Amino acid sequence: MENRSLVTIAEHSKEKILYMLEMAKEFEKKPNRKILDGKVVATLFFEPSTRTRLSFETAANRLGARVIGFSDPKATSSSKGETLKDTIMMVSNYADIIVMRHHLEGAARYASEVAPIPIVNAGDGANQHPSQTMLDLYSILKTQGTLDNLNIYMVGDLKYGRTVHSLLMAMRHFNPTFHFIAPDELKMPDEYKDYCKKNNIKYVEHTDFNEETIKDADILYMTRVQRERFTDLMEYERVKDAYILRYDMLRLTKSNLRILHPLPRVNEISYDVDESPKAYYFQQALNGLYARQAILCDVLGITLDDIIEDGKK
Ligand code: CP
Repeated sequence: MENRSLVTIAEHSKEKILYMLEMAKEFEKKPNRKILDGKVVATLFFEPSTRTRLSFETAANRLGARVIGFSDPKATSSSKGETLKDTIMMVSNYADIIVMRHHLEGAARYASEVAPIPIVNAGDGANQHPSQTMLDLYSILKTQGTLDNLNIYMVGDLKYGRTVHSLLMAMRHFNPTFHFIAPDELKMPDEYKDYCKKNNIKYVEHTDFNEETIKDADILYMTRVQRERFTDLMEYERVKDAYILRYDMLRLTKSNLRILHPLPRVNEISYDVDESPKAYYFQQALNGLYARQAILCDVLGITLDDIIEDGKK
């Protein structure tokens, strides 16, 4: 049987990405439906989450599915030593889809290889976060009217930030120019810069973060320094306040600029920025509902035509 899991966005063609964004658009028009009536979605969160888990669960509930799962692995038999494989095999007995977040890079890939049902990667360590990428792309498309030829500035923790890694890969289809703004300790890893070179993606690296650096941005993608990924907390202390976006830094920016952030924020966007019409991170999180409705349907083999037809009911 075809494995319809979503493990990495790199496996999706341009056509497939645009197709799924069309699905998200349909769900934004009508989020409450019964198209997943009778289905069970399992959300297995081995790491903390607010948006990803709750938006997946809302997506399932609004489409008529039931949700099972956990957000605290200490309350499950994995704390007694049950392996990931056994957990996945057990939950596959009960559910039609598994949405999983795990601290180990590659955990979602492994789960997709052992599970008889689709796995949706809700974040695996510092590796990938493909459902976040779908909502990021949807947010970029909605605010810019296109995904093509944009100046995308990624700021902060580009080393451990899985959302920037996934977004970079997805944008290969759309001729972006990336600007990577990070302290030396948190630079975009060579693996992703090599990916850019191989795919003819233009990028520039900066260590300065000021109003001059960002004035040509269409998208300013801020990220949190990921404390939980540091083995040396002294290093975290050194870099945690490296880049903070303040309202006055937006003075020279383009009118179409939108500020994205996968959230949660700690202190990298000051609260006065929330008042700017260029701040889009809360709407971005709402877009996650529609993007994740599209993902749940896609992994079950439900098509855009099915969704359009269902929308007429
Ligand atoms: N953007 C994101 O992954 O948020 P959560 O960690 O709250 O799910």
